[in-house]
Amino acid sequence: MKIGILTSGGDSPGMNAAIRAVVRTGIYYGMEMMGIRRGYQGMIEGDIIPLQTTDVSDIIKRGGTILKTSRSKEFMTDAGMQKAYNQLMHHNIEGLVMCGGDGTFRGAVHFFEKYTIPAVGIPCTIDKDIIGSDYTIGFDTAVNTAVEAIDKIKDTAEAHNRIFIIEVMGRDAGYIALYSGIASGAEDILIPEEVTDITEVIDRIDRDERRKKTVHLIVVAEGDDFGGAREVSSKIIEQFPLLDVRTSVLGHIQRGGNPSCADRILASRLGHAAILALKNGNTQVMAGIVNNEVVYTPFKNVVKGCNPISKDMLELIRVLAI
Ligand code: F6P
Repeated sequence: MKIGILTSGGDSPGMNAAIRAVVRTGIYYGMEMMGIRRGYQGMIEGDIIPLQTTDVSDIIKRGGTILKTSRSKEFMTDAGMQKAYNQLMHHNIEGLVMCGGDGTFRGAVHFFEKYTIPAVGIPCTIDKDIIGSDYTIGFDTAVNTAVEAIDKIKDTAEAHNRIFIIEVMGRDAGYIALYSGIASGAEDILIPEEVTDITEVIDRIDRDERRKKTVHLIVVAEGDDFGGAREVSSKIIEQFPLLDVRTSVLGHIQRGGNPSCADRILASRLGHAAILALKNGNTQVMAGIVNNEVVYTPFKNVVKGCNPISKDMLELIRVLAI
């Protein structure tokens, strides 16, 4: 079998480890492995290269993706999908492994409604918002990067008795905010999955001020319904003009860096599982991890929504920030 692998959408630390696992497992089972560069856009343009075991040497520890990535608008069109399919046929590709997030799987569902080619997905996104997997490749690294940054901000916040509003990534998902906020002892966490009542945030700051609690950290996901760090900060400054308020937007540092051990292991397991699925004819599924076991979920179920946020974890914030 000749298998193509691509990485698509926002990159995530551990994508390279997944590429390595897919390529090496494929070669182990006698498959011919091809890299499709720049995601679906490279598929459309036929940017396809052979991959040998040595091409993936020493990439397990590297952030980014050696295959590069893109968010292809052309792939959303009928003409783009037709070109992509023609390129796959031209290169005699008989199976696909797609590494990416929800956009990647939505693209896959549309493509496979029209064209038949065996495919398996691997959940790679720092957002951890994919149904069918408890964890996604890149989340652990990203959240640790965020915690490290927030710890440093907390040192300076404490030195000055400041309120800090820290924006983390997550356009549609609050997992990075939730996990990094709990792990860094934040007082408030604002996420897209919950309607933000800013008056409650203000009441909590007021309460802390009266109790002489001098530091108040608010971790806000970029996609929160009230807005990002700047909007939250303006509102707080309006209410408390005498308090010292600062903002910090962590941005794309959360997407880079060497993957954590957990992400390397997850990527190695799911890369291996993706090839086994193709080999066994279990296709049009995503290989994910649920209760520490590999599970396969059909693409059409993967795109139905996102992982619900645990109410227990939200409750932790309220209790532990007392
Ligand atoms: O999907 C991963 C993610 O990092 C989101 O958290 C973020 O909103 C988005 O990608 C940013 O994408 P880009 O790098 O294209 O601006």
